[in-house]
Amino acid sequence: MTNKTGESKVQSKSQLEYEYKIGTFVSEDNLFPLSEEDQETLDNFHRMYFRLLEKKSGLQISWLGHQTGKVPADLWIYQEMMTQLRPDLIIECGTHWGGSALYLANMCQLIGTGRVITIDLYPKPSRPHHTLIEYVNGSSVDPQVVAQVKAAAAAHQNIMVILDSNHTKEHVLGELEAYHDLVPVGGYLIVEDGFLGGHPSHEEYGPGPMEAVDAFLATNDSFVIDRSKERLLFTLNPRGFLLRVK
Ligand SMILES: C[S@@+](CC[C@H](N)C(=O)[O-])C[C@H]1O[C@@H](n2cnc3c(N)ncnc32)[C@H](O)[C@@H]1O
Repeated sequence: MTNKTGESKVQSKSQLEYEYKIGTFVSEDNLFPLSEEDQETLDNFHRMYFRLLEKKSGLQISWLGHQTGKVPADLWIYQEMMTQLRPDLIIECGTHWGGSALYLANMCQLIGTGRVITIDLYPKPSRPHHTLIEYVNGSSVDPQVVAQVKAAAAAHQNIMVILDSNHTKEHVLGELEAYHDLVPVGGYLIVEDGFLGGHPSHEEYGPGPMEAVDAFLATNDSFVIDRSKERLLFTLNPRGFLLRVK
């Protein structure tokens, strides 16, 4: 398609996409459910990871110099999901240092579409600046914040939502209720840190994201858990990749 001056009018694709054609490969293999023995090995690895992380900072990671609380395998899965789904807006609850928001914004640049709205109750001054990142300060379940984010989302259809703020069951359930309707059929809502509360570590945390997912799905059949997004095995989001099916 061309405009009046004869220039190409394909706006949803970046120059990069033409220079480095984005492919379509993604593994279809789903390893879940794992055998009991393999699940036990994975759970033990997870517990070792957090035992070491809490002792030393050698396991902390960063993206372009900005710290993130995610693990590399989950960031990789986000990259694959974004390439496949090409979301035009990503809403992240929980910015912290901003490394994850910058990662998502840089992925938007690479695939040539999308931007990021990220919400935090305690904004950090060191968070990164990027034209594709919009920061919202406040609680992700504050009705005013929800209204502000929904107003900004109104211009978008292909929305991905990531819940990574306060991880108590009550708070995550509030976020699920507030934001799930923004996700289109075929899109994803990701509930981070479902490992809390003994799944398989941090038993002392009590009911957390996984319990919120269970409570949400008990009354909402428009989402299902997509365990294929856990196929790189070490994820902080067990049973947390929710696919909208209707
Ligand atoms: C796990 S960190 C976010 C990590 C970040 N997404 C990353 O991957 O690097 C959680 C963040 O949620 C924020 N937070 C806590 N309660 C919140 C609330 N009610 N609303 C929004 N953010 C909140 C905290 O200030 C903290 O920065």
